[in-house]
Amino acid sequence: MVMDRPIIQLPPARILGIESSCDETAAAVVENGRSMLSNVVATQIDIHTQYGGVFPEVASRQHIRTIYAIVDEALQRAHLGFNDLDAIAVTRGPGLPGSLVIGMNMAKGLALSTGLPLIGVNHLEGHLYSAWIYPHDTPAPPAPPEFPLLALLVSGGHSELVLMTGHLEYRRLGGTLDDAAGEAFDKVARLLGLAYPGGPSIQKTARDGNPEAFNFPRARLEGTWNFSFSGVKTAVLRTVRDLESRNIALSVADLAASFQAAVVDILVQKTLHAARVFQAKEILVAGGVSANTALRDAFVAQKEFPVQIPSIFLCTDNAAMIAAAGYYRFANGQRDPLNLDVLPTWALS
Ligand code: KG4
Ligand code: ZN
Repeated sequence: MVMDRPIIQLPPARILGIESSCDETAAAVVENGRSMLSNVVATQIDIHTQYGGVFPEVASRQHIRTIYAIVDEALQRAHLGFNDLDAIAVTRGPGLPGSLVIGMNMAKGLALSTGLPLIGVNHLEGHLYSAWIYPHDTPAPPAPPEFPLLALLVSGGHSELVLMTGHLEYRRLGGTLDDAAGEAFDKVARLLGLAYPGGPSIQKTARDGNPEAFNFPRARLEGTWNFSFSGVKTAVLRTVRDLESRNIALSVADLAASFQAAVVDILVQKTLHAARVFQAKEILVAGGVSANTALRDAFVAQKEFPVQIPSIFLCTDNAAMIAAAGYYRFANGQRDPLNLDVLPTWALS
């Protein structure tokens, strides 16, 4: 593997990753930061659907019930025991405090009883490193992403443009001023009467709709690398109210398709612009919203920059990405103490 930065020696290491920042309880084993030996995710979606979103206390308590079994299964699927591991990486933040604490305490208990080092990982860094991962039985491992990378990180809580100049080296260029992209999908889905989580529901409904039926606003915020999605969300709301007040039948499919087209347009145009300005070699798209097929198709359709987008199952929350990022932290010498606290609002740095 050709490294852009010689500062980090890359030793052989197997890392157990643990993730519990929101409503997915996950554990995985990744070798050398890239080769995924196992990846187990228990989603709580069915439980939270009845509330129309994540209910934090319910999420924490569900993590408690499942986390031990999930870690055990990740080791079993990798055919490994604790003796075969080199470190335990766990999501330290950002996320729901009560949920983060469950994963953190599980990781600490394991670190204490096995003597393995503990490594706290930023969840956003994990999403970025999902682009390095491939299943261990892949016949020809893909080439790793090349720096400098322009990363678009779009999830339920974040929409950021990040310039990655080397392993663990980030420059945050900008982010959302209001709703995150995933949050906008979730809120618009709710107002259209679609199920939680909103992203997949909107994507499915949009398949039967016309993306040009409504011309929703695209907040370009010229001169900055920031995003704003509250305008497009409000425009959908206004359109729905207007159609209802005039007794015109709502085409939920057209509304979903037009909303999705507006969000995809904003994300793709701004990312391409930043990639040009910062002379990126490649674009990386990560986070839950990068599972969106319209967004993926739009990035693949442009031919200006090579694009790295993780497999769909690695776009939404998982622990393989935490193990992968944890590997580069491990290689960089990070070892955390057993009194490590969680950081619910931790920015990428
Ligand atoms: O990264 P993630 O799993 O959790 C956070 O760290 O937030 O992202 C979850 C977000 C949700 O807002 C969800 O609606 C959105 O990602 N999402 C999607 C799709 N799948 C998940 N948004 C658009 N299209 C999708 N297919
Ligand atoms: Zn996430």
